[in-house]
Order: sequence, then C-alpha cells, then structure tokens
Amino acid sequence: MDYLEIEGGAELSGTVRIGGAKNAALPVIAATILSDRPVELENLPDVVDIRTLLKLLERLGAKVEHRGNEALIDCGPLSSTRAVYEIVAQMRASILVLGPLLGRFGECEVSLPGGCAIGQRPIDLHLKALENMGARIEIKGGYVHAIAPEEGLHGATIVFDKISVGATENTLMAAAMAHGTTTIVNAAREPEITQLCEMLVSGGISIEGIGTGRLTVTGNGGNPLHFSKPIRIIPDRIEAGTYLAAGAITYSRITLENIEVEHLQSILDKLESMGCTFEISEGKLTFIPPTGRLREVNIVTAEYPGFPTDMQAQLMAVATMAAGESLIEERLFENRFMHVSELNRLGADIWLKGNVAAVRPVEKLYGADVMATDLRASSALVLAALAAEGTSRIRRIYHLDRGYEDLEGKLAALGATIRRRKSK
Ligand code: EPZ
Repeated sequence: MDYLEIEGGAELSGTVRIGGAKNAALPVIAATILSDRPVELENLPDVVDIRTLLKLLERLGAKVEHRGNEALIDCGPLSSTRAVYEIVAQMRASILVLGPLLGRFGECEVSLPGGCAIGQRPIDLHLKALENMGARIEIKGGYVHAIAPEEGLHGATIVFDKISVGATENTLMAAAMAHGTTTIVNAAREPEITQLCEMLVSGGISIEGIGTGRLTVTGNGGNPLHFSKPIRIIPDRIEAGTYLAAGAITYSRITLENIEVEHLQSILDKLESMGCTFEISEGKLTFIPPTGRLREVNIVTAEYPGFPTDMQAQLMAVATMAAGESLIEERLFENRFMHVSELNRLGADIWLKGNVAAVRPVEKLYGADVMATDLRASSALVLAALAAEGTSRIRRIYHLDRGYEDLEGKLAALGATIRRRKSK
C-alpha cells in the first residue's frame, strides 16, 4: 500500500493549477445517461472516483473513451439498469445513477450505498422525491428497485425538509425526463448543482431558479437529451481551498489559477479573519500569509453559500497554528471528526464535545505516523505534516487518490518535501 512521506517545514511558493471539481463531474457523468448520443466532457479531474463512476457506466453497457482530463461517453448502447453492489460500495456517489436511469428507462435497480466514515448518510430524501414523481420503490436484497408508472414519471412539488446535494441532483435528472413541471423547494444551491442545471438546460430542458433554493424543471416526457457542445467541468473549490490552507499553515505566498473566486467566498472570509490577505487578478488568486501569527477562528459548517463541510478538516489543521483557541462546529455530518485524534498525534491540542471541536494553540506540530480515514481528513493530515517539524508518514492514502489529482506532484512543485512510497 502506498503512503506519503512528508518532511515538514519547507516554505512553499509558486503557482498551482486547480483541476475540475470531482463533485461537479460526478453528477455530470451520471447525467450522460439521459442521452442516447455521445457526450464530450472536458476538465475532468483525473481521480479514482471519476474512474469508478465511468466503470459503472461501462458495466451498464455505455461506451466510454477516457483520456486523463477528457472523456467521451455514449449511453446510447446502455443495456442494463442494475448498478451492482461491488461498484456502488466503492463510492456512495454511484447513487446518482438512480434518477437518470429511472427517468430514461422507467425501471432500475441500484445497490444501497450504506454508511461511510463520516456518518450514516441515508438516501431517504432521494427516494421520497422519486416517489412523489410517481415511482414505486422497493428495497430488497440490499438494492433499491425503482419502477416508474407505465406512462412515465410525472412532475410534482417536492419539499425537502433537509438540504441535500445528492437528492437535489437525482431529483433534477429524474424531473428532466418527467411529464410536466417539478418544483424542488429547499434545493441545494452548491455551484455543482448549478453546473448540472446548466448542462440540462443545454440539453433542451427548461429550469427556472438556477442558483436558488427553489428550482422549477419542465420535463420533456422521457425523450433522450442531446448535448451538442462539450461540457466543461467547473474548477474544484475544495481543491482550491485545500491549497489556500497549505499556504496558510506554512505561512507561504502561493498563487492559484483556474479558479472561480465567487465559489471560494466563505473560505476566503475565514482565512481573512485569521489575518491572511489575497490579491485577485485575471482569474488568478494569490494567497498572502499574515506577517504575525495566524489568528483563531470560529467556524460552523453549512450548506452553500455557507462554509463547506468539505473544508472543515483542512481549516482545523490550519487552526492548530493559530495564536488563540478556535471553535469548529460540524453541522452536516455526525461523524466528521476522524482527523481529530490523528492531528493530535502530530502534536495538536484539539478537544471534542459533541459536534464542536475546540482547537487550542500549540507552539509546534511534530512529524509522526498517521492514518488517513476519509478524503478530506487525509488532506488535513497532509497539511499538518507540511507544517510539522520532522518527518510524517501518512498511510491509507487511497482516500486522497479518490479526490485529489496528483496532490504530491502539485505540492512538490510548490516546494514541499513530499514523496509517495510503497510499504514493504
Ligand atoms: C455531497 O454529498 C458531496 N459529495 C460531499 O462531498 C459533501 O460533503 C456533501 O455533499 C455536503 O456538501 C458529492 O457531491 C459527490 P448531502 P451528499 O446529501 O450529496 C443528509 C467529499 O469529501 N441526508 O448534501 O451525499 C446527510 O446524511 C464529499 O468530496 C439525509 O438525511 O451529501 C447529511 O447529513 C464527502 N437524507 C446531509 O443530508 C438523504 O436522503 C447533507 O448530505 C440525503 C442526505
């Protein structure tokens, strides 16, 4: 198994190019099921989760040509509508094929994804929305079996009692294929949702309220969509935030290119309150560390445009270096603090009470062997190791490979001493 070896203490400098957003690319790939013609995708991140979903589409019978950051996906020849456990278990986001498979083919079976390291992660909202559109849902043998009425799904008003990115995406894709109008109330507003809406609009679907919590979709009654232009994946705001955190924790000036500044606002606000500043010009953002010590920060995770749960672990790593005590509250996932004990192994002083972490100041972090537990927890450990005195070895980095393209290559190019090694 690979691990990362990091010698902490190096100052970083230079420019890093941010890739396409994994969490935008996944629903876009799922939405290619809505078409019976090839769809071209650009600026895909070259990460394991993307390859997993492409593999799932191939298992369903799609023709996929995938080269690094581009793919041509043809769901014309799709011959199966059963998303099998062995792939869904590798990646929860596979549930995103449920809405489009049901919408286009009227029936499908998708393995239940189950819980994961950050929480239980139920899919009740996804199922309730499809039922509102007329689907009959049965759970049998670990699979969701969804069947649309003979005449196809119908439009409905769907009121989510909790904001869910995935449920909003599944509903949008099913609604695009339904007869009539679907209104999604309390929809997620993440930029990744906007990308999916814009893709559906480019395929001829009318959607009102894009970027708001109320989306109105007029379905086309089940005709396959045609996307004549390539779909270009938006920049990854969480990858960008992770490199900003790398700048902060190592007190280094670094520049990010290929970013969407508006998507980074809540992250920039928190770093600013810690004393960091930014220069923004011509699509580039330069991070400038404070001259003195970082200040403490209070963070509560929330749905977009609030502070993203996917940046909670990374900013916790940065907060270990602050002058005072920071409070970090996790409101989206019940168990997203697996990084706390590993950060403490590196010398941090973090106390947990329920869903709040108190991050107390320490003079230094010290290199140690640590274990990655999920994608963002892993990147927080990399960040802490960059600032720690001495050598750290981060194990189980297959989590990192799921969502960060060439993390060690990009950090090494910025001047970090980081190597991927194989365990004997
Ligand atoms: C997406 O997951 C992201 N994944 C996650 O990114 C991200 O952490 C999360 O949104 C929140 O921003 C992808 O986009 C592929 P949710 P998703 O449904 O859609 C509860 C990363 O590191 N809920 O918005 O699964 C749920 O348990 C990952 O890249 C229900 O109760 O998240 C959670 O508490 C990890 N019932 C909250 O809603 C449901 O049916 C938000 O989850 C669905 C969700």
